[in-house]
Amino acid sequence: MKTLAVLSRKGGTGKTTLALHLAVAAYAAGRSTLLVDLDRQRSALTWRRQRAFSGPRVVDAKPGALFSMQHAAERLDTDLMILDTSPSGEEDAEQAARCANFCLIVLRPNFLDLKAVAASAEMVQRLRRPACFVINQAPPRRAGQEVAAIPETVEALERFGIPVAPIGLRSRIAYQRSLETGHVAQEVEPDGSAAMEIFGLWRWVEEVLWPQEFRAIA
Ligand SMILES: Nc1ncnc2c1ncn2[C@@H]1O[C@H](COP(=O)(O)OP(=O)(O)OP(=O)(O)O)[C@@H](O)[C@H]1O
Ligand SMILES: [Mg+2]
Repeated sequence: MKTLAVLSRKGGTGKTTLALHLAVAAYAAGRSTLLVDLDRQRSALTWRRQRAFSGPRVVDAKPGALFSMQHAAERLDTDLMILDTSPSGEEDAEQAARCANFCLIVLRPNFLDLKAVAASAEMVQRLRRPACFVINQAPPRRAGQEVAAIPETVEALERFGIPVAPIGLRSRIAYQRSLETGHVAQEVEPDGSAAMEIFGLWRWVEEVLWPQEFRAIA
């Protein structure tokens, strides 16, 4: 079983949105998926209660219970555990990162998120956890060109020595509206741009987590 932690010490960067969309992508790809909601706001659990049909399992937990939960999930033949974390509580984020095979550090391409990301970068490096940054809510291209904030953010992130995921998420209404009915964007608009982004990011994450499977295919 693999564990993926979705982190950021800043509120509202898109941790829950990313965790839910990747959890459904993993589930749709046939991976037995458990999303663990570690945030007291219980946003992921609220989404799951709204969803009246099959999908990834979602449970809430206290960070202190993570190790025992990992063992229990393994016994239930879970393939992937995704940890949706809280923006507050350094200890909690550390506990999630310690359990994780890979960490996604989520940020929006703006000054304040970039400043806040340093704490998460320092933490994963101190704990020696493999990680990457995921840029979320990127503005649309203008006249076919990325707005300056994107290359500037990528350049600033490169100084941390942690890679930036090759696929980020743009700001799209589908990421918001789809959750209202317990869906995610790729279910509501399977051919839409959000679906393409999520599918591309999921494929990349999947290869990071299970490189041996991809080598076997190649
Ligand atoms: N790519 C996106 N496009 C449009 N809206 C987005 C996108 N990602 C997130 N949002 C919106 O931004 C808000 C915050 O997202 P979300 O709740 O996922 O962040 P979070 O990091 O989990 O927040 P918290 O720190 O409070 O747990 C929500 O209203 C969500 O719908
Ligand atoms: Mg959240």
